Amino acid sequence: MRILAIETSCDETSAAVLEGEIGKENPIILSNIIASSVILHSKTGGIIPEIAAREQLRYIIPVVDKALIKAGCLKQGKNPIIDAIAVTVGPGLIGSLLVGVETTKTLAWIWNKPIIPINHLIGHIYANFIGNKPKTKNQKPKINNDYFPAIALIASGGHTDLVLLKKHGVIQWLGGTRDDAAGEAFDKIGRLLGLPYPAGPMIEKFAHEGNSKRFRFPRPLIHENTFDFSFSGLKTAVLRETQKLQRDRQNNSIEGIFDYQTICDFSYAAQAAIIEVLTKKTLEASKKYQTKSILLGGGVAANQTLVEAFRNSDNKIIVPQKLLCTDNAAMIGAAAFFYYEEKNWKQVTAKPELYFDL
Ligand code: KG4
Ligand code: ZN
Repeated sequence: MRILAIETSCDETSAAVLEGEIGKENPIILSNIIASSVILHSKTGGIIPEIAAREQLRYIIPVVDKALIKAGCLKQGKNPIIDAIAVTVGPGLIGSLLVGVETTKTLAWIWNKPIIPINHLIGHIYANFIGNKPKTKNQKPKINNDYFPAIALIASGGHTDLVLLKKHGVIQWLGGTRDDAAGEAFDKIGRLLGLPYPAGPMIEKFAHEGNSKRFRFPRPLIHENTFDFSFSGLKTAVLRETQKLQRDRQNNSIEGIFDYQTICDFSYAAQAAIIEVLTKKTLEASKKYQTKSILLGGGVAANQTLVEAFRNSDNKIIVPQKLLCTDNAAMIGAAAFFYYEEKNWKQVTAKPELYFDL
């Protein structure tokens, strides 16, 4: 079975083709094309939904076309060789989601293919269930059922959630952020330091050269008996420290942005606080539910310092390749193989507020 997947929930326009047997093996990627409007948002320090939606419209057809061509699914004059189209229906920005959903409905109608609606958050988890291309013809990509029960931490720009995965399709939500998401905290703190959006990858780099002793920020909710997170207080603590430093600088007639070492020191301390909260809560959940593995997902899982912190625990840690941590259609296609429920174009709508239900 071949599934074309489409992801347009935020500022990435992505289409992928995955191949496999439903529920029997981890599907493999035949193509995964990602176009991003991030550069347009870097100037404004965050995503402007209207601009993101407009860019989705610009990219969607070329991106789908490229994904089908690269996967070898297009034969001239014929419908593409695919069996279904998976699409992110939510959560996300309404304007962006609509572009993917309406394009999918149109293509499904023209090509007479079923649609598989997919929850973006489940997609982030299923970036961990993608197989490697078999080296020989007889070799099959294996399915990782030995991960269960598993705890999944989804940490992205829009979400920070801890869920228990008992098996494929059986998910229990344990907790989530009460205010800012982990990625959002990286981005907002980056903005305070004068870094462009998205700041997460840059803060990770600067943190390597940071002085671990110069600043220390609070670890919100770390001692509370809950699997919830809160990062807005951390952002405020960084804001106060930057303001204090600015006052000192003004008193000494120093102008302009912070010096390189100061940015590194702030980056170190902010990242350390975020990582400590994420790892502690996740490890506690894993212990409480006696899970066999911890699955990471979402853009923040691309942070190697976070991954290392998890690997220092004696748990089995599963992380997608870096490119599959941030938004992409391959993860949506992968989820479709495990949450395969055919719908026709009339039954599918964009659901910006979707959470852990479809
Ligand atoms: O999953 P994603 O692409 O989009 C959402 O679904 O939100 O995540 C994007 C977020 C951004 O906030 C970005 O700063 C963060 O992931 N991010 C990182 C890193 N790479 C991306 N945060 C920390 N360290 C990184 N290396
Ligand atoms: Zn995402």
